[in-house]
Amino acid sequence: MPRVLSGIQPSGDLHLGNYLGAIRSWVANQDTDDCFYAIVDLHALTLDIEPGDLRSRTAATAVSLLAAGLDPERCTLFVQSQVHEHTEMAWLLECTATMGELGRMTQFKDKSERRASVRVGLFTYPVLQAADILLYDSELVPVGDDQRQHLELARQLAVRFNNRFGPVLVVPEATFPVVGARVMDLQHPGQKMSKSVHSPLGTISILDPPQDIERKVRRAVTDNDGEVRYDPRGKPGVSNLLELLAVSTGQAPDVVADLYEGYGPLKADTAEAVIELLRPLQRRHASLSADPGLVAGVLAGGAAKARQVAGETYRRAASAVGLLEPG
Ligand code: TYM
Repeated sequence: MPRVLSGIQPSGDLHLGNYLGAIRSWVANQDTDDCFYAIVDLHALTLDIEPGDLRSRTAATAVSLLAAGLDPERCTLFVQSQVHEHTEMAWLLECTATMGELGRMTQFKDKSERRASVRVGLFTYPVLQAADILLYDSELVPVGDDQRQHLELARQLAVRFNNRFGPVLVVPEATFPVVGARVMDLQHPGQKMSKSVHSPLGTISILDPPQDIERKVRRAVTDNDGEVRYDPRGKPGVSNLLELLAVSTGQAPDVVADLYEGYGPLKADTAEAVIELLRPLQRRHASLSADPGLVAGVLAGGAAKARQVAGETYRRAASAVGLLEPG
């Protein structure tokens, strides 16, 4: 069984981009692979977040992931900070990475732009992400398109580490969904849907009630030429709607485009398809929320399983670089 690892920041409220770009693949992978999924709370510390919010969002993210279809019987769902090897492994990898390669990370450049002071954690963030991946000997890492560069770095660090210290780390491969790898903001179709950008009308939460989804899709920014055509560069707003409709109904966006003459019917059907896509998830969310003890149990079990695998890989890596066995 191929080993899979992926991670998500604890925003609490997942959006449609997270769901279509990553979580749907996570759910599907459970059938065929040995899956580890991390709620990466340490990564969330790189930006300002209130301690109480971090705690509650970590739990809320776990509930959303279970509602989306993660099954603790078939995957290991855990919280990053409960497995201390993540930070230890990150140090070994920080001593492998260079300032130059981290400085080239576009997410770092975007997030540090126009800030008077930039935290070191924001700079080394991708190294912690590489540690997340490499600790689990993961072969496959299902992610959205925005993680491409971070995944390439994780591969490079693994190769460099192995060249220096011997064949210790598995070199992972990123996987992306064919459609939905980059869901765009409905109001600003030139930028990806994101929880860190304040765009309430442009972002669909997986927990949005049907009337909100309908309103957001109806008001989605398109263009003036009125032609329904799949052309992500030339017509990003219309193409984003086509992708949402296509992925929600299991078709190809260019095939879906041929079925429509105007934006009105396209928007109406897209809203309907997204509402139907999310309906079962929202129903499960309502029943899971009624049982707060369940999530704590799932996360405790997940951390115990994750520690076993991560502990073994870390000891292998630590020994390879010449650190002594724990006394
Ligand atoms: P995060 O928390 O921003 O997003 C979680 C997953 O959702 C995908 N995603 C999208 N996919 C399509 N369209 C969008 N608009 C969109 N927005 C987000 C992301 O690509 C991601 O797969 N650095 C990572 C978290 C992380 C991680 C890891 C991922 C930490 N360690 C190890 C994989 C492996 C992040 O911030 O994702």
